[in-house]
Amino acid sequence: MATSIPGTDPARNPFDAFRAAVAIALNRSIPALPIDKAYEGVDIGKKGGDFSVAMPRYRLAGKKPDEWAAQVAADFVADDHLESVTQQGPFLYFNARTETLVKKVLTTIDDLTHRTESGLPEYGTNKSGQGKKLVIEYSSPNIAKQFHVGHLRSTIIGTFLANVYKANGWDVTSINYLGDWGKQFGLIAVGFEKYGSEEELERDAIKHLYDVYVKINKDAEADETVHDQARAHFKRMEEGDESALIHWRKWREESIAKYKEEYARLNVAFDIYSGESQVGKESQENAVKRMEELGIVSDSAGAKVVDLEKYKLGKAVVRKKDGTSIYLTRDIGAAIERYEKFKFDKMIYVVASQQDLHLAQFFKVLSLLEYPWASTLEHVNFGMVQGMSTRKGTAVFLDDIIREAGNTMLEQMKKNEEKYAAVENPEETSQEIGITGIKIQDMTAKRINNYTFSWSRMLSFEGDTGPYLQYAHVRLSSMERKNPNLVPLPEPASIPISTLTEPKAREIVYLLATYPDAVRTAQEKHEPSGIVLFAMRLSHAISSAWEVLPVKGEKDEEKARARMWLFLCARDVLGAAMRLLSIRPLERM
Ligand code: ARG
Repeated sequence: MATSIPGTDPARNPFDAFRAAVAIALNRSIPALPIDKAYEGVDIGKKGGDFSVAMPRYRLAGKKPDEWAAQVAADFVADDHLESVTQQGPFLYFNARTETLVKKVLTTIDDLTHRTESGLPEYGTNKSGQGKKLVIEYSSPNIAKQFHVGHLRSTIIGTFLANVYKANGWDVTSINYLGDWGKQFGLIAVGFEKYGSEEELERDAIKHLYDVYVKINKDAEADETVHDQARAHFKRMEEGDESALIHWRKWREESIAKYKEEYARLNVAFDIYSGESQVGKESQENAVKRMEELGIVSDSAGAKVVDLEKYKLGKAVVRKKDGTSIYLTRDIGAAIERYEKFKFDKMIYVVASQQDLHLAQFFKVLSLLEYPWASTLEHVNFGMVQGMSTRKGTAVFLDDIIREAGNTMLEQMKKNEEKYAAVENPEETSQEIGITGIKIQDMTAKRINNYTFSWSRMLSFEGDTGPYLQYAHVRLSSMERKNPNLVPLPEPASIPISTLTEPKAREIVYLLATYPDAVRTAQEKHEPSGIVLFAMRLSHAISSAWEVLPVKGEKDEEKARARMWLFLCARDVLGAAMRLLSIRPLERM
């Protein structure tokens, strides 16, 4: 059907064609209701039909919503897309013609998985963000401090969002803004003199620097002068004194190298490793100067303070007494520099909700400084996680978390001896499933919710867990291996889809069709939970389909082939959803 409803793309989103058909039916009956306006009111997935319309939302004059609905139902003529309509008061429920639905959905998936211009699977993606630039910052741990759950969540959610924006057609630049600057590096420098070891630094920079930091902090508790030394050292760093920077530079490089390995295991990457140390002095100074000109800065015991009381955001120091820079001011300078460099349409910060005030303060300062792009900054926050620990104690390093996930999963898998013996690569497989478990647990609930970290719950094969998803994907992936007589499948046009008549087949097809909408919603809401829910629903539908839609035992080869196509499409879409969640779908386990 040729439609030109703005924002729709039936070649990528099969539901768009059906919603257009509903809109056309509405407009045919009510010419005063334009097609594009009618289209906006078409919902999916409500009980009562495949597509629903609530007449009151159109605010049509002349008749009551019930009467309008009755009129549309009476005027309805079945066509290639829509088979029937039922009216309940002011509501209309339209049903798609099954054969058209099945054909459109599976052909679209097939085309966009195997026959795209880019050569990459594209089902679920759209072009709504074309020409738009996103800068997104996530993970951003502090060198020489704990990698805490807040950083883990930021890493997981941030990676997801970067993927989602790309899937919605945006040009995305991802930044890891390391906490690699500040007085604590003066403290570590003092500590390194005493406790540092080049060897240990080589072996594991992150852990070693943390050890040094912990030790020197203890010393400083007993001896105040350690802090003075630290401040003095950091001041030299700020002044660009090369002799004060030489160690620091090495620590930073070694830490980044180590982090890169760990991120790679998590299937996480960044376009840019930046950090607080990389923010230019000039941009910070200019910002403070402009704040002074605007009269929002005052002196307080030698420090400069910006007053945001008017906005219920308190007061905040923007420049310390000794002239050294500060977290808030570095963020202001960094944002200005990023705009200069990227001219982004939007910039997102994925940071725990503990920093809500900080983010609100620096966004506010930027808008007071009248940067027009300040309104495009968004803080994507998230709740806390309780109880993340490893057997060794509280997990403080990303490294430990990944290892623990792998080990715990391995033990879990060993419990089923028979299955375990068949696993080809137990170490790698268990680590991948373990990481999947962590990610799924993290993205299952709304991001703003707090949750309690539980190894046993997240690594169980039962319930809506990561291992369950991986298992569903593995089982789908084994179909081709188990049915060599049916593959390769012929061209979509030659597959006898009219044999896919079972309600279960239709249910799966309908679910598959909801994926492109889910990808859009995930971007609009900055919410991974909808994609997790989609993947779980699909996996459940599939696992209840094995018995009703057998492939191997099916004597009618045509029928078996059509089912095979359905399952392979389901595998591709499940895989796409998992990859969107930054999970590597397994083919075997
Ligand atoms: N490194 C900071 C921390 O661990 C998080 C940085 C968040 N991003 C930002 N632009 N302030 O607390």
